[in-house]
Amino acid sequence: MTGQFPVEQLRAIETPFYYYDMDVLRDTLHVLLHEASDSRWNVHYALKACATDEILRAIAASGVGADCVSGGEVKAALSAGFPPEQIVFAGVAKTDAEIRFALEQGILCFNVESVEELEVISQIAHSMGIVARVCLRVNPNVDAHTHAKITTGLKENKFGIPMSMLSRAVRLCYRSSNIDFMGLHFHIGSQITDMEPFVELSARVNELVSQVEQLLCENAQGQTVQAQVKHINVGGGLGILYEHPNHFPIPNFKAYFDIWRAHICLREDQHLHFELGRSLVAQCGNLMTRVLYVKKGENKQFAIVDAGMNDLIRPALYGAFHRVENLTHPDAEEQLYDIVGPICESSDVFVEGYRIAQVRRGDLLAMRSAGAYGEIMASQYNLRRLPGHVTSDSLQVKR
Ligand code: LLP
Repeated sequence: MTGQFPVEQLRAIETPFYYYDMDVLRDTLHVLLHEASDSRWNVHYALKACATDEILRAIAASGVGADCVSGGEVKAALSAGFPPEQIVFAGVAKTDAEIRFALEQGILCFNVESVEELEVISQIAHSMGIVARVCLRVNPNVDAHTHAKITTGLKENKFGIPMSMLSRAVRLCYRSSNIDFMGLHFHIGSQITDMEPFVELSARVNELVSQVEQLLCENAQGQTVQAQVKHINVGGGLGILYEHPNHFPIPNFKAYFDIWRAHICLREDQHLHFELGRSLVAQCGNLMTRVLYVKKGENKQFAIVDAGMNDLIRPALYGAFHRVENLTHPDAEEQLYDIVGPICESSDVFVEGYRIAQVRRGDLLAMRSAGAYGEIMASQYNLRRLPGHVTSDSLQVKR
């Protein structure tokens, strides 16, 4: 089974390029919003997964908020129509200019990753005569059981404030007249398909929230106040099924949200935030490429395509799998290939020993599930042109 592609129109476009199926995106958003309908819940789209303008506009129009990790992402979110009060800004090291810009725009909050950063945000807010809203990102030491390079919640990772320093950070927030302490933020990793780590994270969240709420803190006026956690942000990480883009184009949002509903103790006056990236956009995107040569090796055959690791780096960087389909000859008899790119690096391999309908020079192939961390991670390595994209709504190439 292959996906639905307007093959004739796509064949007329110079490869490689990304093709986004906007119906898949809209269906995904529809299911997402249906499953996340609790009025205390807020979903933010993690722009780092894909910041293609048409994708951002469709997501902003659905009412979902934005999760940004750079000033550039905050700018892109605002210009795509995400309201500032639905934008959260994370990232392990924000520059002074980024902090100032986000404060000027009035975003919902910063997810602060260290006591050092908290002090800088407080100083900058003071110099601007305003109050910065802040959630503290805690490193919960929970194993996400995913690829080591996309695990973030272990104590050896660079992310977040260690649990042992959390009380101190909360006290600092209360003592500063330029910081409004909103709550806690977590993110344990990406491409998580087994829900158990989220159950484990929930237990840790409940424990830390009640620990923080027992703290008596001194405020800027010298009064003693009890710390309050109004916002809990559990990050992103929901994985998708790379092997089955046609059978499971929409992730199992129900199973994911059921976990939080069952395991997070959420009061009526508290908000629960999610920062989903991959699960919203991965299955709507495809990298389209043509076969340049079919080359016989000593004991393998190579399908050499015109897309390279600069266009889609996930296989080279994480050993990630993307299903490949032959759109020109979908019904040809299958053969085994190593599908490789033209870049001068041995790691420029998309998949090895892969069974696909026999390919010929000029055949159009689709590399599936490439909407997340695909186009956005593309580079010009080997001085190649950036791939650019078309959407199913317009079929006009944008670079
Ligand atoms: N929130 C924070 C703080 C994050 O660091 C991330 C992803 C997300 C949310 C969104 O996570 P998602 O829902 O997409 O799993 N380039 C890698 C993935 C890196 C993820 C980085 N952080 C890949 O291609 O697999």
